[in-house]
Amino acid sequence: MSDKLNERVVRHSPSQGAGSPDVWGVYEPDTGSVQYVVADPATKKAALIDVVWNFSPKSYATDTVSMDQVMDLVAREGLSVEWVLDTHPHADHWIASAHLKERTGAPNAIGERVRTIAGLWSEIYHVEGAFDADRDFDRLFADGDTFTIGELDVRVMLSTGHTLGSITYVVGDAAFVHDTLMYPDSGTSRCDFPGGSAAELWDSIQAILSLPDETRLFVGHDYGKGDRVEPMWESTVAEHKASNVHVKDGTVREEWIATREARDDTLPLPDRMLAALQVNLRGGRLPEAESDGRAYLKLPVDYFD
Ligand SMILES: [Fe+2]
Repeated sequence: MSDKLNERVVRHSPSQGAGSPDVWGVYEPDTGSVQYVVADPATKKAALIDVVWNFSPKSYATDTVSMDQVMDLVAREGLSVEWVLDTHPHADHWIASAHLKERTGAPNAIGERVRTIAGLWSEIYHVEGAFDADRDFDRLFADGDTFTIGELDVRVMLSTGHTLGSITYVVGDAAFVHDTLMYPDSGTSRCDFPGGSAAELWDSIQAILSLPDETRLFVGHDYGKGDRVEPMWESTVAEHKASNVHVKDGTVREEWIATREARDDTLPLPDRMLAALQVNLRGGRLPEAESDGRAYLKLPVDYFD
């Protein structure tokens, strides 16, 4: 098997019939992120989920290669974008939300508890008032909210644990679970960022795994596993219950929480985290440019170990 973890792999998961979306996953190799295009085959209306605005953690130079690739796919498939969605304010990459809103004219959205996350991080960065989710997002979803993509019904599930405001989008037989589960051979996501909780992540995962067995689950990250050097992101509820290495049927809650917390203690912070949150909590905008026309980021020294 050739190493595909460095490639911008695209995979189509076809609609399963009435009420079921076409889904394209687009792999972003720099951060192992999976970006999604979710479309109603009947109306060709689509939502974009968790699209990346690339930047180098060394030079802080930006580029739009990932969002360009996603928008090329949208054009090639003859889709029109109705929503620009994120599941949570990511710690490993910048969101393309503001850019895509401008390019498509579609509203952007995220979970309403981003207001609370913004409060936590505005203290960490000492930038009171800089983050305003109501200003930077057109819609802030609460648990149980519903909306449509074309004629497809979408339901929002609050899925806390990885962050205190993460949400899952359930679109017919597809669910976008982002940093809750990972591909079955890789288990689950970390929950040690500010506001994270292993106990809450367990409960969120159980809610996701109580969706119908045939539900297609699409995860937010993949880094390969062992000899598997092909990025993978789609599997069903039944497959996770049968084989997810962390949470398959029979797993004991307290044991998983202890294992998860012990593992998180060993993980370094993502190298883009301190740059990412201050942009993502502005909806994917840089801070206001200074008098030289350039934007500058802020870094708290000695806040994190
Ligand atoms: Fe995340």
